[in-house]
Order: sequence, then structure tokens, then C-alpha cells
Amino acid sequence: MSFPKGFLWGGAVAANQIEGAWNEDGKGWSVEDVVTFKPKVDVKDYKANVHTSLEGVKAAMADPDPTYYAKRRGIDFYHHYKEDLALFAEMGFKVFRLSIAWSRLFPTGEETEPNEKGIAFYEDVLREMNRLGIEPLVTLSHYEMPLELALKYNGWADRRVIGLFVRFCEVCFRRFGKYVKYWLNFNEIDSLIRHSFTTAGIIPELCGERGELACCYQAAHNQFVAGAMVTKLLRELVPGAQMGLMLTKLTTYPHTCAPEDVAATQKKNLENFFYADVQVFGEYPRLILRDLEKRGLTPEMEPGDLELIRAHTVDFVSFSYYNSSTESVDPNVERVPGNTILGVKNPYLPSSEWGWQIDPVGLRISLIELYDRYRKPLFVVENGLGMRDTVEPDGSIHDPYRVDYFRAHFREMEKAIDAGVELMGYTSWAPIDLVSANTNQMSKRYGFIYVDQDDLGQGTLERRRKDSFYWYQKVIATNGENM
Ligand code: BG6
Repeated sequence: MSFPKGFLWGGAVAANQIEGAWNEDGKGWSVEDVVTFKPKVDVKDYKANVHTSLEGVKAAMADPDPTYYAKRRGIDFYHHYKEDLALFAEMGFKVFRLSIAWSRLFPTGEETEPNEKGIAFYEDVLREMNRLGIEPLVTLSHYEMPLELALKYNGWADRRVIGLFVRFCEVCFRRFGKYVKYWLNFNEIDSLIRHSFTTAGIIPELCGERGELACCYQAAHNQFVAGAMVTKLLRELVPGAQMGLMLTKLTTYPHTCAPEDVAATQKKNLENFFYADVQVFGEYPRLILRDLEKRGLTPEMEPGDLELIRAHTVDFVSFSYYNSSTESVDPNVERVPGNTILGVKNPYLPSSEWGWQIDPVGLRISLIELYDRYRKPLFVVENGLGMRDTVEPDGSIHDPYRVDYFRAHFREMEKAIDAGVELMGYTSWAPIDLVSANTNQMSKRYGFIYVDQDDLGQGTLERRRKDSFYWYQKVIATNGENM
């Protein structure tokens, strides 16, 4: 079987990694604007670039040196969006996933009226996409919240942030609803346990006696409640629109068939599913509640929270998939990085320079697992390969490794579809080179389109088509027949 008619092929980005213009037209500070770039960061240390202390955040706010704050520059999509959207249209995109920077609409998060200049920017972008026939897929929260809310409330650990987020979403639905059918609430919602500052604005020293982890689970609960409220609101304000959840699919295999390794793997996978379970089934899994209780991490819930979560579940399940890993109870096995995780090295898989283990079959396994568990349409909203690219003297960029990566993953998607999985679409991460989330490097490139900018922000910002650009164009034109 091949890809279904109307399959949504496209690409995905996040505001904080592309827009730049971090303080233009009334935009406020976001948590990502104080995230530093450190040139020789250890690939295993995905938190190395993130300030997790109040002192660090304040020092970053006082530091004008643009060299260390790559996210403040992005790839200047703010001023290049027409050119970039035209390139996506040239590739034949049916869909483009982007996020709305909360701090562009509500600079401190607490204004009573939104910043009209921020709204105008997104209206222009969405109108242009509409004109080009590209369906928007909008993430409401992608590693970006007004920094003020982190400093004042400790981010999502405080319930008061729920109402502020709902107000932001209401503005998005009212002003952008006519252009947007598909919405995602929280990007990689499970990741707040792994990088709580960028995902949820949590500053550990503000967490008090219960500690950072308790704060994180409280933040997760607050996001579940906010997610349910926002889904309810979307259904009231934009009839026919759909809300999806977004999970980091941390596909984990037992390192060996020793039952203890299998049990440890099972535990890890259940933790990963937890964040989707709540949003699809409308209730906390009993095993997770028990585990949180034993560890003294049960979040505080208010009357009515669980009813809300039960009543407003999501329409579809989206996820990111970059790599798989394995789990072992043996403390001496080698651990390697993946997307915000450290897993045990799988001897059967190759790794990228950043250590992420490439596993196309794992995508098929993930699709089948998620569909069998949730029986909801699925959407692969992130998948791609970060690599260094070389620009040849004639300006061309040959990236057969990227084509190989995508082709292998697409073949596995086909097999999952053939097995009966309902797959709505696929957005590659990322169709254009951008600032990497974990390392803040430019040189970890994902795009079909090259951007002339280095890790220190030097370059003309010129866009160039890589070989993979033409390949993806052909894939989309033939709906996956010709890879
Ligand atoms: C996901 C994020 O975790 O992985 C993206 O949603 C991110 O924002 C992507 O860019 C790839 O990670 P990295 O660190 O290679 O940019």
C-alpha cells in the first residue's frame, strides 16, 4: 500500500529556532532568549547550554554579546518568511508546522491586551501560506514562554500560568482560527521532566523543599488542565478545527532479553506513554499515580481538574521520532545521547556525529505501537537528521546521507500504513537549517534548504537548495511513489 490520498507532506520548525527579531516590534523576553551557545559542549550534556539558576538568567539578560545567544538571531525568518514559504511551496509542501511565540503576543505574559504587531506578523505568515496552498499546523507552545512568567511564578509549576496561557490561546484561536485547522498544544510535553526551564520555565532553586522533580510533575498536571481547557475553547471558537497532543517518542528496546532489562524497559516506556495516555484516555494511568505517590511526587489537583481532563481529550496524536535507544540494568554499559535522553548504546545501529542512533524500523514500531494503543490518527511532526553540510565551490550542497535517512524512514511509514495505521501526514525536522534546540549550534543542520550562517552568527543568511530539496520535491509530487 502507498501513502493515502491527501497525505500531508511538509516540514516543521519552532518560532524560537527560526524567527530571530527577539526584541523587535514589542516582543518580550522568552526563556529561549537567555539560552547560551557554548562552542565545545559535550554532546552527552544536553542541559549544558541552559541556565538553570536565577543568577544565570539575570546574567544572560544583562549580556549584550550576540555571539552566545543564537536563539536571539534564529535564521531571521521574521524578515525572510516570504522567501522561505516560497521555497516550501516550490518543494510542494501541503503542510507547514510552525509555532507562535507567546512572548510576541504577550511580552510579559500578563498584559490584558495582546501586542497587535505580534499578531500582524503571524497573520501575514498565515495569509501567505493560505495563498500558497500550504496548510498550517500550529504549535501553541514550543519551548517558549515569556521569561517574566518563569521569574515571577516559576513557570508552569504555578497554577496561575494556566489562565494566562488560556488567554494567549484564545487570542490565537480568535485571530488565526480562520486560517488554521490543525493545532498542537505542547511540543514534546514529556520533555519538561528532562529540560524543565526551556519546556516549562522552571528554575530549580525556586522549587522549594519538594525539589525540581515535584515541580515538574506539578507543571505537567497544570499543562494537562490547560490543554483540556484549550481544547474545549478551540471547539467552541473554531468549529471543525482539531487539537493534537505532541509526544517525544522515546522508543526503547531492552538491551538484552534478560527479564530485568525487559522490566526496566517496560517502566521507561510506560513513563513515556503517560503524557499521551492522559490526553487521549482522559485519565491518569493508575500505575503512574501509584509510582508518583511512592516517590512523594503526586501533583496537587483542584476539584474539577480530572473532570476537565476527562471531558476534553485530543483529536489526534502527533510525535517526534529521531532515534531509538535501549535500556539495561547494568550500570557499566555505554550510554549514548539521543533526543534529550541518554540511552544505552544499541550495537546494531549506526550513530550520527551527535551520537543519536539512526533506526528507521523504530519509526514503524513506534507508529504501530501508538496506533494500537490510542486508535487515533497519527501525525509524524518531527523526524530528521542533523549533519554538517559542505558547500561546494560552485555553491551546490550534496547531502545523500539526508536522502538515505528520509528514504529509509518513509519506507517504514509505508509499511506501517500497510499494516493499517492511520497516518495523517509527515513534517520533517526541519525543512530549512535552523538553530539546534539542544546545542544552539547552526552547524547541526537539518534542512533541505541551506542557510549561510555559522555557529557564531556570521554569514549572509542566504538560502540555498541542497540536493535533498529536489529529492523531497519529487517525493511529494508523486505522493511517495518515487523515492
Ligand atoms: C526536538 C524539538 O526535541 O528535537 C526541536 O522539538 C529540536 O525543537 C529537535 O530542534 C532536534 O533537536 P536538536 O537539538 O538537534 O535541535
